[in-house]
Amino acid sequence: MNASLNSKVEDFTAQTQDQSEWSLLGWAFAPERCIGSARAEIDGRALAPISYGWPRADVLNDFPVQCTTPYAGFRSYLCLPPGLDAGEHQLVLVFLDKLEQELGRSTSTFKLDHRIVKKQSPHGSAEIDNEHPQAAYLNLLEKTLVGLPYAQAQDCQFRQDGRDWPELAHSMAGMARLRHLRACVETVVRENIAGDLIETGVWRGGACILMRAVLRALGDTSRKVWVADSFAGLPKPDAERYPADAGDTLHAFKELAVSLEQVRDNFRRYDLLDEQVMFLKGLFADTLPTAPIKQLSVLRLDGDMYESTMDAIAALHPKLSTGGFCIVDDYGAVPACRMAVNDYRRAHGIESPLSMIDWTGAWWRKE
Ligand SMILES: C[S@@+](CC[C@H](N)C(=O)[O-])C[C@H]1O[C@@H](n2cnc3c(N)ncnc32)[C@H](O)[C@@H]1O
Repeated sequence: MNASLNSKVEDFTAQTQDQSEWSLLGWAFAPERCIGSARAEIDGRALAPISYGWPRADVLNDFPVQCTTPYAGFRSYLCLPPGLDAGEHQLVLVFLDKLEQELGRSTSTFKLDHRIVKKQSPHGSAEIDNEHPQAAYLNLLEKTLVGLPYAQAQDCQFRQDGRDWPELAHSMAGMARLRHLRACVETVVRENIAGDLIETGVWRGGACILMRAVLRALGDTSRKVWVADSFAGLPKPDAERYPADAGDTLHAFKELAVSLEQVRDNFRRYDLLDEQVMFLKGLFADTLPTAPIKQLSVLRLDGDMYESTMDAIAALHPKLSTGGFCIVDDYGAVPACRMAVNDYRRAHGIESPLSMIDWTGAWWRKE
């Protein structure tokens, strides 16, 4: 262990209704080398990696040395493994540098007051029966969209959790977020919640392809799936109007620019391109306020930045039906996105409880 690493878990709290996901807040500080990533172990069992952190001035103030690391604080969501017994457990955070060399460890204990049972999805279709042809079709489609059938063995956990930018898969979101999206679409159809479905920020289109497939499997011919994107990547940050986006570099990644023709072709490959699929090409600020959408039942936001999240939620949340779902892909992963959502909810007095799907995805149901 490198003696120059200081770290502490400050807060470790239950977040979700079923209490199988927990949030972790703390700080880690390595003055000599940058912290690249961290992973967690509970009682010696490795959990999924913790993939981000953000600078915390209060932590830096405690140390009378020049800070060179951009990762001085962390907030993350851990999925506790099913079957963990009630009682005391040991949590170890292992911090790594950019070269994946171990920098040091932070050890703490926590107490569980209940046994962690198997996770349920929020609206019903949790354990999906492969014997049923509709369910088997959607199960296979979810796995295909996240790229599990052809992922390298070492990438399977990242694909399960949706933590990477996969080379071939048609969605970045992992299994938990696609399973949850499917449950939301099934719920609005089953409960007759009026309105179309939309994703703002579609990349290769995988999440929209899943929404179209659920409508097909349930025989719903009345709803449209709106596919909104620049189809040319993210905008450059406008730090004057949106200070939270200052320094954002996502616009520079050509991997994030997928053309409309490519996305259309991806729908076609699954036999899911038809008149129920509608494309909205352009920056959200230009397309969404005047889009010919009357009502929505599922609104999925995946534009990463403050500006992109705010433009989409401001234009579309008012069109979401009561009982409809608002889903935010980057709530945990991108602080600027979280800030936009929190600002919008506060400004509009939205008190519907926000729950986490996994380490980053969040959702609420409009009341
Ligand atoms: C992280 S990717 C979306 C991933 C996708 N939802 C999935 O399931 O794999 C972000 C997408 O948002 C789009 N985007 C971000 N900000 C935008 C904006 N302001 N206007 C239009 N498109 C935007 C980008 O072009 C990119 O395709």
